[in-house]
Amino acid sequence: MTAPARTAARDAGRTGAQPAIITDLYAALTERGMSLVDVTWEQHRLHESRRWSVVDMLSAVDLDSLTARDRILVWNAGRAELTTKPGADRLERQAEAECRRWGSVNPSVAAVMEACGTWSRYWNEEEAHHETVFIQLAQATGMEPISDETFIQFRQVFPDDDMLRTLVLLAISEITAAVNYGQCQHVVEDAGLRRIFKQVAADEIQHRNYFVSFAKALVDSGEYHPKDAFAVAHLFLREDGELQGSTREQRENRGTHVNWWDHLETGGSDFRPEAIEKKEQLICGALKKITGIAVGSRDEVEDTWMDLLDT
Ligand SMILES: [Fe+2]
Ligand SMILES: [Fe+2]
Repeated sequence: MTAPARTAARDAGRTGAQPAIITDLYAALTERGMSLVDVTWEQHRLHESRRWSVVDMLSAVDLDSLTARDRILVWNAGRAELTTKPGADRLERQAEAECRRWGSVNPSVAAVMEACGTWSRYWNEEEAHHETVFIQLAQATGMEPISDETFIQFRQVFPDDDMLRTLVLLAISEITAAVNYGQCQHVVEDAGLRRIFKQVAADEIQHRNYFVSFAKALVDSGEYHPKDAFAVAHLFLREDGELQGSTREQRENRGTHVNWWDHLETGGSDFRPEAIEKKEQLICGALKKITGIAVGSRDEVEDTWMDLLDT
């Protein structure tokens, strides 16, 4: 690390400058001379500044005021969040393996992988808050409990994929969760429950931003091609694609892991937190940040993906 970079990092920690996600991680590591200790310090400061208490949040909910729709939204959220731990566990393992693989080939890419693997511990801890807040609330309001069998089934690990594809998929999953919770926040009456949905949605946006920064770092390294980012986005945005969630006529029978947003039970209510257009715009925004290529719709994503396949 260069002396100016060292001073800047030290000052940021000492003077209480707002912690933030390093959005140009590859340049920070290669041009600005940031070390993994510096990157970890930024991750840690941000994590600590955003911590919140599940116990306190739960105590602010007026259980008796919750409607049948509120309760089904909470119940669904708990089931969706149960599947995040295997995602984070798998990311940690994959990032460590990729770090070793790149170590002698491209040490800067190895450092990006290590930064990602290190951050996965914060991600996992934050998702633990989401899982427990929703499951405890669902249980307290008398919703169908989660059996140990279901719990274990929902912990099944995702299959491995190329790292850029994985990060883009995770960014899109966070967008899906953030938009769904944002929609929920607008239809619930109880102030305590609204605060929970708002807090969790804000966490998911922060996770999205991290995945975007790691994915961008891989593309910036020149070792990963933007076409793979577009391929994953297309998978979600195409007609009857993953983004349609539980409204799709044909759902994927994965046989490996559970994606609860595919299943979503409405319990007789006609409210569905899908908001497809919003997700489409956020995915396009993420692609722009990751690859530098601007697209504004799912058709443009498909066209760009096809063009990139020829490059
Ligand atoms: Fe979550
Ligand atoms: Fe998340």
